[in-house]
Amino acid sequence: MQTQTLERMESNVRTYSRAFPVVFTKAQNARLTDEAGREYIDFLAGAGTLNYGHNNPQIKQALLDYLAEDNIVHGLDFFTAAKRHYLETFEEVILKPRGLDYKVQFPGPTGTNAVEAAIRLARNAKGRHNIVTFTNGFHGVTMGALATTGNRKFREATGGVPTVGGSFLPYDGYLGEGTDTLDYFEKLLGDKSGGLDVPAGVIVETVQGEGGINACGLEWLKRLEGICRAHDILLIVDDIQAGCGRTGKFFSFEHAGVVPDIVTNSKSLSGLGLPFSQVLMRPELDVWKPGQYNGTFRGFALAFTTAAAALEHFWRDDSFAEEVQRKGEIVAERFGRIAAWIREQGIEASERGRGLMRGIDVGSGDIADKITGKAFENGLVIETSGQDGEVVKCLCPLTIPDEDLLKGLDILEESAKSALR
Ligand SMILES: Cc1ncc(COP(=O)(O)O)c(C=O)c1O
Repeated sequence: MQTQTLERMESNVRTYSRAFPVVFTKAQNARLTDEAGREYIDFLAGAGTLNYGHNNPQIKQALLDYLAEDNIVHGLDFFTAAKRHYLETFEEVILKPRGLDYKVQFPGPTGTNAVEAAIRLARNAKGRHNIVTFTNGFHGVTMGALATTGNRKFREATGGVPTVGGSFLPYDGYLGEGTDTLDYFEKLLGDKSGGLDVPAGVIVETVQGEGGINACGLEWLKRLEGICRAHDILLIVDDIQAGCGRTGKFFSFEHAGVVPDIVTNSKSLSGLGLPFSQVLMRPELDVWKPGQYNGTFRGFALAFTTAAAALEHFWRDDSFAEEVQRKGEIVAERFGRIAAWIREQGIEASERGRGLMRGIDVGSGDIADKITGKAFENGLVIETSGQDGEVVKCLCPLTIPDEDLLKGLDILEESAKSALR
């Protein structure tokens, strides 16, 4: 397999190709194939971008049909038929059945673009600069979003430029069981001398993806919503990784029955892995003046087309969400058993997550790397997350057939055993 040109020419900043140093060529649903013809089961799924699997046939067909007819591909932020079709589908299939009323901003194609736009919108709407964010939160690496991202690895790579505009509070569970971390937030808000600038908004992941698969309690999230309402602070749910069905509902906050003021979506939104993001805002928050936030790639008609096809195909009823919850239970049960076996070896380990966003915390990045390294040798692509990469993380396609899911879990279990024995 020829990797020399890739290693020589691509910047040192590359990451995933270090853990998986092969040249991938083809992919279908939950299987990847490399140049040598070797197949792998994919428990990474483009870091949560391929919830509907690689090259989903229905979504791909919508793209091929669209291209075949010379429809517009790039449209700045023109009105296009593709955009209208996406918005109508999103409203009919997702918003209306959930009783949600949001306006939609297309801020640029990546997740961090959506976070930048969301926090700037919150600031403009409230006339305050501060954004409360949480320990272990990950919201992207452009400067505004980075101010709300916890990990020092990213924060220290700005060439000394300070990241400003975010205040970190402890996420649910950060101070151990028995402590409700929101007591501290509430106390600070009521304390003129507490040092917290009253925030415009609070940005939160309901399950922290990069931060180590930390799922906040649903009561905690509901309480956070209540605190925000009581203090005129906007609740921003960053659903870039946990959204689009990953936790077993289209929006991850549906489990808690909260209604955020602002939502960010990206990753699996386009359905096929095409870059695409959006910000949802309560209509009265749409304080943008025309052109105040722009960008060349805000009208990617191919992504509108595939995103609409994904909604049509998977979200017309509850059956897909139920399947995700069923498969999530299979993973939770097996991860629980693997964690129990690891504990028997004298290593602290625990299972965590929601839906098909699951992890095993093994307490150390070295141990997690040994397991995922062995898994890759055995034909499974799976990554780690957490501050030191101590959580082995399953983000398999939600469409994974049971056979591949069970095979992937078998590989992971065998790999953990052979790596740690
Ligand atoms: C919750 C969350 N927010 C924002 C981002 C940033 O998205 P992107 O990498 O597309 O900029 C990510 C990426 O992993 C994420 O998981």
